[in-house]
Formats: sequence, C-alpha cells, structure tokens
Amino acid sequence: GAPIDVDLTPIADGQIVNVFWRGKLIFVRHLTEKEVADMKAVAPAGMIDPAPFLGRVKDGHERWLVTYGNCTHLGCVPIANAGGHEGWGCPCHGSQFDAVGRVTRGPAPINLPIPPYAFQGDTKVRIG
Ligand code: FES
Repeated sequence: GAPIDVDLTPIADGQIVNVFWRGKLIFVRHLTEKEVADMKAVAPAGMIDPAPFLGRVKDGHERWLVTYGNCTHLGCVPIANAGGHEGWGCPCHGSQFDAVGRVTRGPAPINLPIPPYAFQGDTKVRIG
C-alpha cells in the first residue's frame, strides 16, 4: 500500500488517534510530558520484551508514539488508559501495555510493533 500522511496539528496533548495503513490499525499517540517522564524512568531490564524509551519513539520527537494497534497475543484492540494506568489494557485476555506500547503483562509475548514511519517536519508523519 501507499504511504499515508498524518497531520499531527489537531492531535491534542494526551490524545490517541486511530489510522489505518495497509488495512492495519495504527495508534498515533501524543504523549504528555508526564507520560514521557514516566516512560523514560522505566528500566528495560525487567520487561517482558525489553525496549528502551528511545527504541519506541523517534529521537527529537519523543512526544509522539506511532504503533500498531492490535494486541500481540491474538489481535484484539487494547483499550487506552484502561484501569487507570497510562497505557492500554487488552479486553480479551488481560494483557497490558505501557504508554509507549511495551507489554507489561501477558499473555501478549511482545511489544506492540512499530510500523515504518518518518517525520516530515514537526507536524506531519508519513507512515509506510
Ligand atoms: Fe490481547 Fe489475548 S488478544 S490478551
């Protein structure tokens, strides 16, 4: 499929927008400063699928997460901010993901994957 461009200017602080690329759901999340600080503070060592913060966002654009939106267990769509935490909770079998999509509770075996994307200036990302 062709790349898609996502205009970031209407996405508010803390908001998550769903887009589709090649038929796949993708979350574009405008992380709050608190979420960034919290996610940076987590040590990767104890994670199910260890990934540093800067492995999840682009250097210089750390307020933006672009990630596939289907649970890595069996593909359900996780719910944002479920149970009062900053990430996502999967309604099917209880997996949890943090605010940058790293799995914090199984049965999901791996983090939400990051699709290929690049910033076009500061206010647009091209996915694909
Ligand atoms: Fe998400 Fe099973 S599909 S936990």
